[in-house]
Amino acid sequence: MCGRWVKLYLKWLSWWIPGSGNRVQCPFFLHPILESVLLSFRNLPIAALLFVRFARNTFTMAKRSGNRNAQLQAARKAKKDEFYTQLSDIEQELKHYQKHFKGKVVYCNCDDPRVSNFFHYFSYKFEKLGLKKLITTCYKNQNMELFSQNDSERAIYLEYTGNKKGGNVPDPNDIGIKHLQGDGDFRSAECIEILKQADIVVTNPPFSLFREYVTQLMEYKKGLLIIGNVNAIAYKEIFRIIHDNKMWLGVSISSGDREFGVPDDYPLTAAGHRIDKNGKKYIRVKGVRWYTNLDHAKRHEELVLYKKYTSEEYPRYDNYDAIEVSRVVDIPMDYNGSMGVPITFLDKYNPDQFEIIRFRKGDDDKDLSINGKCPYARVVIRRKR
Ligand SMILES: C[S@@+](CC[C@H](N)C(=O)[O-])C[C@H]1O[C@@H](n2cnc3c(N)ncnc32)[C@H](O)[C@@H]1O
Repeated sequence: MCGRWVKLYLKWLSWWIPGSGNRVQCPFFLHPILESVLLSFRNLPIAALLFVRFARNTFTMAKRSGNRNAQLQAARKAKKDEFYTQLSDIEQELKHYQKHFKGKVVYCNCDDPRVSNFFHYFSYKFEKLGLKKLITTCYKNQNMELFSQNDSERAIYLEYTGNKKGGNVPDPNDIGIKHLQGDGDFRSAECIEILKQADIVVTNPPFSLFREYVTQLMEYKKGLLIIGNVNAIAYKEIFRIIHDNKMWLGVSISSGDREFGVPDDYPLTAAGHRIDKNGKKYIRVKGVRWYTNLDHAKRHEELVLYKKYTSEEYPRYDNYDAIEVSRVVDIPMDYNGSMGVPITFLDKYNPDQFEIIRFRKGDDDKDLSINGKCPYARVVIRRKR
C-alpha cells in the first residue's frame, strides 16, 4: 500500500523534472506560472515531513528543558533548606529549658546524625539532662562521614540511650544506627511512628515546609523547640497556633542574624558569608527565631512601659477599633483598649500581661489602615491587667 503511494509520488515528480519530456503541455504564456505553482505542490509532502519533524523535535526539547528546569528548581529549593545550626546557638537556647528534658524521649527528625549539632548536643548532654532516649532521623543520605556509614543511599535512623559504661561521652558502639525503609521524610508513615514515641522534637526543620512541619507536631501534641523564620508568624496557620497560646517564641534570638553552616557546593550569593580556614562555608541568615511550646522564664517577664496615652500620638485605625503603636517600647502604660503593635512584640509577649486578639486585618478583612495608608503587618493586642 505504502509502496504504491511512493510510486505514484515519484511518477508525479518525474512529470516535472526538466527535460524529462513529461511536461504538461500548456499555452506558452501560462507555462512559467503553472510550473511554479506545480513545483511548490511538488515540494509539499517534503515540507510537511520536515514540519512534522521540526515540531516533534521542538516539543521534545521543550519537554526535556521543562523537566530539567523543574529538577533544577527542586534542587535549588532543597539546597535552600540545607543549612546547619551551630552548636553555640543550640547551647544558648537549650540552657533555658533544662528541666523540661528529664526522663524524656527527644526526637531530632531533620538531622543527619553525622553532621547535626542537635544530635551532638543531646548525645553529649544525655546524662546531664537525664534523657530517656535520643532518636534522630535524617532526610536521605547526606553522604558525609562521621561514623563512617556513608555507604548507603537510604536514610538513617539512630537511637541512643546513653553511654552504657557510664561515661559522659557517647560511645559509637552504644549508638544504634539503622536504615529506614524510605527517605526519612518527616511526613512518612515510619517517621510518624517514631514521632509517636517522642516527647519533645528539637531541630531546625526545612523552612520551605515549616507550616506542614508545625501542623504535624500540633496534631500529635508533641513538645517542640525548633528554629524558623520570623516571617512564618504571618502564615495563617502559624499565627492561629500562636494566638491560641499553643506555641510562642524562644529566648535567645530576638534580633539580628545568625550564622549557619552550608554544604560545600552551596552557592555563596548572599552578602554575609564566610569560609573558614578548613574551607567550610557559612552564611548569615536574617530573621531567625526559636519557636517552642516549652515554658520559659522570659515569657513571664513583665514588659516595662513608661509612655502615657494621648489621642494625638496614637492614631486610630480606619477599619478597626484600636490605636496604632508603631514601636513596642511605646505601648502606653495606661491604655486598656486594643492596640496594633509590630510583630516583634511577640519577642516580648507575656501572656499574663497581654492577650493577642487578631493579626493584620480590620473588620472589613482588609489590612489595618490609618487615613487609607497601611502600616506594616500588625498584631492587635490588649492589656490583661
Ligand atoms: C535547615 S536544615 C537543618 C539541618 C539540621 N536540622 C541542623 O539544624 O543542622 C533542614 C534539614 O531538613 C532536611 N529536610 C528537608 N526536607 C525534609 C523532609 N521532608 N523531611 C525531613 N527532613 C527534611 C534537609 O535535608 C535539611 O538537612
